[in-house]
Amino acid sequence: PTIFVITPTYTRPVQKAELTRLANTFLHVQNLHWVVVEDSPRRTNLVSNLLEKAGLNFTHLNVETPKSLKLGLSWIPSHTPRGTLQRNLGLHWLRDSFSNTAPPEGVVYFADDDNTYSLELFEEMRYTRRVSVWPVAFVGGLRYESPKVNPAGKVVGWKTVFDPNRPFAIDMAGFAVSIKLILEKPHASFKLEGVKGGYQETSLLKDLVTMDGLEPKAANCTKVLVWHTRTERPTLVNEGKRGFTDPRVEV
Ligand code: UGA
Ligand code: MN
Repeated sequence: PTIFVITPTYTRPVQKAELTRLANTFLHVQNLHWVVVEDSPRRTNLVSNLLEKAGLNFTHLNVETPKSLKLGLSWIPSHTPRGTLQRNLGLHWLRDSFSNTAPPEGVVYFADDDNTYSLELFEEMRYTRRVSVWPVAFVGGLRYESPKVNPAGKVVGWKTVFDPNRPFAIDMAGFAVSIKLILEKPHASFKLEGVKGGYQETSLLKDLVTMDGLEPKAANCTKVLVWHTRTERPTLVNEGKRGFTDPRVEV
């Protein structure tokens, strides 16, 4: 089975470092197709060149989050959509690509560019029938959050402190969806309107499954295989002073 990884990404000082780290991880994963979706008005040279050189199967797309959308909702930080339109474009590309040909067996995984992914994670998700789930570290103010799994191996709730009554109280990094299901439910997408903080994942998943149908992975959700790391913004206060540095050098 193929793993389609959809990664939203945007221009900032650490972008190349983040994408380099991801590419280095993905190079160790068999049958992976990387769908990189830039939040930008056009595909940038930086990302194009990185992808050409990486040695991965990839598709390079772009869609800019409208400024009005960022501004309009930005008074509540958690309401500024990050990566939403980009993930939806990735889904659209998948559905479009397999509208006339038999779809491959496989899964879709939404991998943000700043997280840390173990190689084991990809083997856990590869054989997903519909939607598989697992714990994610460093989210919701906890060392890790996890689906709650009963002794029979069914997901029955969420081990989270932040709003455990969400229908799907799980981070973006904590689930994968089979291609088959993505194609069976052509209208399933991430919603922009009326999505409270922490409900983005639910906005897609409720179109696809019920809790009942979730497949716990990572040893019944007892292992942490992905970390919601966030990269510190580098201090660049001396840029431009005394002739430092050279903006022609790509960083
Ligand atoms: C958390 C979740 O883990 C994300 O999956 C979710 O999209 C996000 O919250 C949200 O609230 O929207 P967090 O670490 O806060 O993640 O978000 P970022 O890592 O800053 O952004 C998520 C993804 O969107 C990244 O791949 C990032 O490169 C991309 N992004 C971010 C854009 O494409 N455009 C932006 O303006 C900002
Ligand atoms: Mn992040």
